[in-house]
Amino acid sequence: MKIGILTSGGDAPGLNAVIRGIVFTGLQVYGHEFVGFLNGWKGLVDDTTIPLTRHQIMGISKQGGTILGTSRTNPFEHGGAERVKTVLERNGIDALIAIGGEGTLAAAKRLTDAGVRIVGVPKTVDNDLSATDYTFGFDTAVQIATEAMDRLRTTGDSHGRCMIAEVMGRHVGWIALHSGMAAGAHCILIPEQKTSIEQITEWVTSAHDRGRAPLVVVAEGFALDTMTDVHSERGLDAFGRPRLGGIGEHLAPLIEERTGIETRATTLGHIQRGGTPSAYDRVLATRLGMAALRTVLEEHWGCMVALRGTEIVHVPFEDALGKLKTVPQDRYDEARVLFG
Ligand code: F6P
Repeated sequence: MKIGILTSGGDAPGLNAVIRGIVFTGLQVYGHEFVGFLNGWKGLVDDTTIPLTRHQIMGISKQGGTILGTSRTNPFEHGGAERVKTVLERNGIDALIAIGGEGTLAAAKRLTDAGVRIVGVPKTVDNDLSATDYTFGFDTAVQIATEAMDRLRTTGDSHGRCMIAEVMGRHVGWIALHSGMAAGAHCILIPEQKTSIEQITEWVTSAHDRGRAPLVVVAEGFALDTMTDVHSERGLDAFGRPRLGGIGEHLAPLIEERTGIETRATTLGHIQRGGTPSAYDRVLATRLGMAALRTVLEEHWGCMVALRGTEIVHVPFEDALGKLKTVPQDRYDEARVLFG
């Protein structure tokens, strides 16, 4: 059997471990052949490939990024299912494994409906995909954010300043919630919970009054209760997506003016997605890769692999699409107790 693999959408630590999990098992156990498409769906519509051999995958599970490259290209804007089928046929490929987030899986679903044999592997550092408990990359991002906040805290303590860490989370606050709990933040701000500046000020002042340097973590998609739309003021980027980032910088002067506490904001940005994956993410990603290969061999087309508890299962693409996995109220309330 000849199997194609692509990685698409934003990168996440663990992508290479997925590739290794698929290819290693396929070569070692079944003697299959593998082809990598470069730069996501772009490589598939442009027909740019590399052979994936044992040599290619040696030692890659600890490497960040993706050896295949990635992009946000949508195949339906470049020839659609017909073009994809032509390229797969030309390369003699029997099945495709697409590793990506919501956009990638939505395209994979449409291609499945058009008769392409695809299995998916869910990917997002934001951990916002439904139907899977955790996505690889999330644990690494949380560790990086937590370590950054530990560092911000020591400088905040030295200067008696309020420190704000802006973390990733376009639509959901999982990274903010977990890293904020781990680092002992005095205030966690997430897109799911619109909050007033008065409430934030109260939390910051209360931490300060207890002799602490206030630590605030804010997810990039957070909006104050007075903002009708967090994205509206910033407009769209060159790719038509809402421009994010900057909420930390926006909050810093508001907090400083209202509390009289000197305040600094730091945006962690893509540092959270770069570099070596955590051991947890390497193991999860490798298991997902191995399970994706099994799903192909069992011909469960139109399915993605998913983590349920400690088991890896496969579920139809539609289970993961349409509604994001947001932070539930009880998880936020639990964290809120710790604000002090
Ligand atoms: O979806 C993951 C994510 O990291 C978001 O948290 C963030 O808003 C976005 O990707 C950034 O995307 P890009 O790398 O294309 O700027």
